[in-house]
Amino acid sequence: MAEHGARGTVEIVPVRGLPEFRPGDDLTGAIATAAPWLRSGDVVVVTSKVVSKIEGRLLRVPADPAVREAVRRQAVLNEADQVVAAKGPTLITVNKLLGIVQAASGVDASNVAGDEIALLPADPDGSALALRRGLRERLGVEVAVVITDTMGRAWRIGQTDAAIGASGLRVLHSYAGSVDAHGNELVVTSVAIADEIAAAADLVKGKLGGIPVAVVRGLEIGDETSRARDLVRPVEDDLFRLGTAEAITRGRREAVLLRRSLRSFSDEPVSTEAIQRAVAAALTAPAPHHTRPVRFVRVVAKRKELLAAMRAAWEADLRGDGWSEDRIQRRVARGDLLHEAPEIVLPFLIRTGSHDYPDARRAEAERTMFTVAGGAAVQGLLVALAAERLGSCWVSSTIFCADVVREVLDLPADWEPLGAVAIGHPLEELTPRDPRADELLEK
Ligand SMILES: Cc1cc2nc3c(=O)[nH]c(=O)nc-3n(C[C@H](O)[C@H](O)[C@H](O)COP(=O)(O)O)c2cc1C
Repeated sequence: MAEHGARGTVEIVPVRGLPEFRPGDDLTGAIATAAPWLRSGDVVVVTSKVVSKIEGRLLRVPADPAVREAVRRQAVLNEADQVVAAKGPTLITVNKLLGIVQAASGVDASNVAGDEIALLPADPDGSALALRRGLRERLGVEVAVVITDTMGRAWRIGQTDAAIGASGLRVLHSYAGSVDAHGNELVVTSVAIADEIAAAADLVKGKLGGIPVAVVRGLEIGDETSRARDLVRPVEDDLFRLGTAEAITRGRREAVLLRRSLRSFSDEPVSTEAIQRAVAAALTAPAPHHTRPVRFVRVVAKRKELLAAMRAAWEADLRGDGWSEDRIQRRVARGDLLHEAPEIVLPFLIRTGSHDYPDARRAEAERTMFTVAGGAAVQGLLVALAAERLGSCWVSSTIFCADVVREVLDLPADWEPLGAVAIGHPLEELTPRDPRADELLEK
């Protein structure tokens, strides 16, 4: 099987004298003018930033640093399909258009004007193909094109350039099934040639501006179908998917601030696995005497029956208060949240394991202790749901009709309902609220 390395010497030549690019500029013409010496077989390596610029993938940002950071962060989220890890202001995301996992969705303020930030090109493989065809037309040369971006590596310090767009060369060289000179089957099965080219070209391009294009000469090129997109590892092959659970854990700190009571939701169905994960996290809440006093019940089949029975109980209470039928009907009509939410989950408290005391004061304190543990678990659920980007509202109604709830759901007499949690996807993405910084008292 052929070797991926070049047979002879590889040269890396900077393309000097390119102008500062603006939206709509002719990149092909500029490269053809600055590098009339291009030859067939060359690989033209272009920093994605210039492609972003000529394709107008720029966002204006205000001067105020706080607003600027907020706009940048929103742009990162807009470009992201999913946030896979977060640390401080750094978000590692799956790019919505390209599938690339990268810091900040590739959104970047380096080498652009002070009031702009650059997004990645929308279709870098397409841009690479267009540039390759353009250079063929202008100069009559058959080159390959690689479009690069700078990326961190999960397990190593420092960034290198990698290929996010490519045309005219095989981006991967497969050694599957090959044996080395000693007869050993190769452990390395494929080499990401386009990434190696991108990193090599960066050795002459640098980062401080000026040289966004380099030419790598001496490699074997030629391929009509291979694209940089082929270098994006499919999600199902990602050994570090578990890392997303870690990301959710880290995100939970932020999720405390994402939680708020949402009383309307989108129609999008809620993943049962997401609810299960949130419940599993919530059940780690502290509880007295090493007990596990909280249970969560996802109410599905019995929901209509339960809500009808709860409404009847509420009406009976209001009738008992002497309310008129008319007023009762107006009042209960307002309680539609639990009907309309995509999902409802009921928390329950079981006081098994609580201590007995002969006096009312300590008996009451023991009760409070268990009750607050129930609250801790429910808050944990709401926060874990927010970490899953799900909205919720904790409503009290089941507390007021505990017997009815137990009867309809066929639950033991010692299960005390702690309200109900309505769950659904928010109509607008959850954004962190301001922490309340001034409420820690000191004595
Ligand atoms: C134990 C408990 C019961 C609640 N019951 C209801 C309820 O019945 N209906 C409702 O709309 N909100 C209910 N809430 C939500 C509060 O109204 C809400 O937390 C408060 O307005 C603050 O808003 P925030 O959750 O967005 O911070 C309840 C909250 C708690 C902790």
